[in-house]
Amino acid sequence: MDLSSAAERLRAKAPFVPELALVLGSGLGALADSDEAKAGTAVPFADLGFPAQTVAGHGGKIVFCELEGRRVALQAGRFHFYEGHPMAVVTAPMRLYADLGVKAVLHTNAAGALNPAHGVGDLMVIADHLNFTGTNPLLGANVPPGPRFPDMSSAYDPSLRAQLHAAAKAVGQTLQEGTYIGVLGPSYETPAEIRAFRQWGADAVGMSTVPEVIVARHEGLRVAGVSCLCNMAAGILPEPLTHEEVLEAGKASAGRFEALVRRFVRDLAL
Ligand code: HPA
Repeated sequence: MDLSSAAERLRAKAPFVPELALVLGSGLGALADSDEAKAGTAVPFADLGFPAQTVAGHGGKIVFCELEGRRVALQAGRFHFYEGHPMAVVTAPMRLYADLGVKAVLHTNAAGALNPAHGVGDLMVIADHLNFTGTNPLLGANVPPGPRFPDMSSAYDPSLRAQLHAAAKAVGQTLQEGTYIGVLGPSYETPAEIRAFRQWGADAVGMSTVPEVIVARHEGLRVAGVSCLCNMAAGILPEPLTHEEVLEAGKASAGRFEALVRRFVRDLAL
């Protein structure tokens, strides 16, 4: 895909510069079909020159709308490296948001839980990540104006993390906080991998987010992330993992996830 023409097309279609872009993972997709979203402007990925979406349950559009009185962009659907998309496509939305003048991105995803103190259905603020995808989306010639060697020491914005906890408190929820390890997928991990990841300090494991966060930081965007812990990671429980159980747990947490995100957006201070 041609990033500069995608950026130009999105600029032409965007009715405003959103304060925040929200990447809606499994469990939050309904926000893109909410009344607020219906009253907004939807830009299908196809109109920007993105490939057709392949994973069931993922839409494929960016909706510009007002949510809780704030101007946002809701991204329904994302591109995963395991689908065979190049990293340039996986991370293109971050480049587009930066080009539009967006200042912050909230990433949401479904993840497996490694920390025995966390449970299925818990929401976890991402405090930091481990990149175990085997690659880096910044591989190749640097895309200016971002630096060749971008700093990742506070990739997940401390103020936004605090605001997520404050939002949770305001709606009567408890949020876990921890380290997310991004893997390539699409196979789930082996129990041996999960034991190793646990020793490295990972609390949650998933197949998205890390490449997008690296590019978002390269673009100077402020980043926050929340994982919905949809299953205990491989080998923690005696049963095998299935995509269906992940989707089910995502659905069961959707109401709480949405309440948290709405409050976060309402009270957002950038
Ligand atoms: N592993 C990797 N990705 C995931 C998982 C998991 O256990 N759950 C949801 N996404």
